[in-house]
Amino acid sequence: MNGDTCKPDFEALYTHARAEIARGTDRGVSLQLVASLLHREVPYYDWVGFYLAVPRERLLVLGPFEGEPTEHVHIPYGRGICGQAAERLDTFVVDDVLGEDNYLACSVSVRSEIVVPVFREGLFVAEIDIDSHSPEAFDGSDRAFLDRLATVVAPHVRNDF
Ligand code: SME
Repeated sequence: MNGDTCKPDFEALYTHARAEIARGTDRGVSLQLVASLLHREVPYYDWVGFYLAVPRERLLVLGPFEGEPTEHVHIPYGRGICGQAAERLDTFVVDDVLGEDNYLACSVSVRSEIVVPVFREGLFVAEIDIDSHSPEAFDGSDRAFLDRLATVVAPHVRNDF
């Protein structure tokens, strides 16, 4: 870990995120508020977004996000880090994206990534995707925080396409 990846107070951030979720009157708005909060409050969360699952098409569709626009609006299951996480149905942490063959670059500045699946009533409905410009940015504390966050955002995911 270096200065750029100094850990925030995740407990306080979790409380703040729950308040933001409650503030969003519409499901899509809650996700946007969470993405904006995380991007604003955690210096090494350089891109924060949600991919929404379309299981019958085995496809991820870009949902609310904060950070640079990405060309990866639709990602088939199995493609890139996000698509692989959709198949594994498990959190996927990549310490250095330069070492990954199956990776979809959003920006040349990105060095590490974490993707956390979101489940609602046992079904995979979305992913939280976070990119960092620092290598090895994510550790167990990020993962634990994002796992908890995934359970509270789950009811607010709108993927009824
Ligand atoms: N890097 C991801 C694509 C999504 S962007 O990071 C926003 C991947 O390999 O799946």
